[in-house]
Amino acid sequence: MNFLQHYLECIGCGATYTPNSVVYACRSCRDLLTVKYDYRELRNTVDLKPLPGRPISVWRYEQLLPLGHKSERISLGEGGTGLHRCDRLGDDMGLKNLWVKNEGENPTGSFKDRGMTVGVSRAVEVGACSVACASTGNTSASLAAYAAKAGLRCVVLIPFGKIAFGKLAQAIAYGARVIQIEGNFDDALNSVLQLTERRQTIYPLNSVNPYRLEGQKTLAFEVWDQLGQRVPDKVVVPVGNAGNISAIWKGFVELKEIGWIDTLPKMMGIQAEGAAPIAEAFKKREKSIHRVENPETVATAIRIGSPASWKKALRSIFESSGVMETVSDEEILESQKRLARLEGLFVEPASASSIAGLRRLVDAGSVEVDEEVVAVATGHGLKDPEIIIKTCEEPIRTDGSVDSIIRSMGVD
Ligand code: F0G
Repeated sequence: MNFLQHYLECIGCGATYTPNSVVYACRSCRDLLTVKYDYRELRNTVDLKPLPGRPISVWRYEQLLPLGHKSERISLGEGGTGLHRCDRLGDDMGLKNLWVKNEGENPTGSFKDRGMTVGVSRAVEVGACSVACASTGNTSASLAAYAAKAGLRCVVLIPFGKIAFGKLAQAIAYGARVIQIEGNFDDALNSVLQLTERRQTIYPLNSVNPYRLEGQKTLAFEVWDQLGQRVPDKVVVPVGNAGNISAIWKGFVELKEIGWIDTLPKMMGIQAEGAAPIAEAFKKREKSIHRVENPETVATAIRIGSPASWKKALRSIFESSGVMETVSDEEILESQKRLARLEGLFVEPASASSIAGLRRLVDAGSVEVDEEVVAVATGHGLKDPEIIIKTCEEPIRTDGSVDSIIRSMGVD
């Protein structure tokens, strides 16, 4: 099997760096970096043959990932999540071909595991002893797990009192050093970037790290595989710090570069109304965003006012002729319930924003009845159970007698 050479390229000024340089931002213009391959070489070397025998998972596509042949893979069995055909939910919103990619089926319950298996493997490859991230919850849970598996020290910075309990419990259980800060996610991310600048031995694993995004691009490969090696018309993704939508788009573009597909899907990014700087910029056709000072939404995972990867995300939307849309907290919670009750998929509020956004886009005529749509549900509902308990019907209490149980059932 062949493994590809890669390099890093600045998305702003185009400066390039060899894989030996441990950099996370362009040294001349400070913009974000992306992993690049020689796509002509890719066409010749990447080979479909080894794929059929391998289960669907992140590492099925290792030939398209930037890790050395002999490097250790730090894996907990990530990827291979279900692509669920959702006819009942589709009927409910007027779509004939709706699929939900349920990323809650990953080892720590979110899509972050795709990025962390590659990112933490890369940290080990470059000889790091410590890793760090800022988080609204899922990144910290995932990094903590992969750091534990790799035997690395892990520091996570979270906004005090603002992350869902399940995620906090995960980071603590996996043994990360959990540091709470005053302020919001944007402040925590700033602190992590300053910390890792000052202590160069600490390897940062937020989505500014392009190796992490390489893992996340495998969602596109899996969707292609699970649909019988073709792509849908549209892919709907919740957007927070904006790394994931950029990564998924990169995956589809690479499938085209290798010559495995001819057409690309349109990307549809969804933000919560109180934290929607990218959607606002898109709607005004602006080329840059205005940060939201005090982001607010029930979808705590995407409560982000100054997304680090906004430029990559806007490019994905414009290049794919896609759209950005916003949704209210009420729409998010309603969609969370409908997905659970019509399809048996329990996802956290941020994940349900893709369903809520899709419903808006269908109502607005931006998605047609016959189009094939994949909505990405990014994280498991059990991460944030409080919200369901608060917003759904209370469990009924009885004296335990069969008569009272029958009276309480609401059916004959
Ligand atoms: N959905 C969930 C469940 C998330 O946890 C996140 C991000 C997103 C969507 C948005 O993805 O940031 O790549 O646009 N959570 C991060 C965290 C910020 O710290 O866990 P994005």
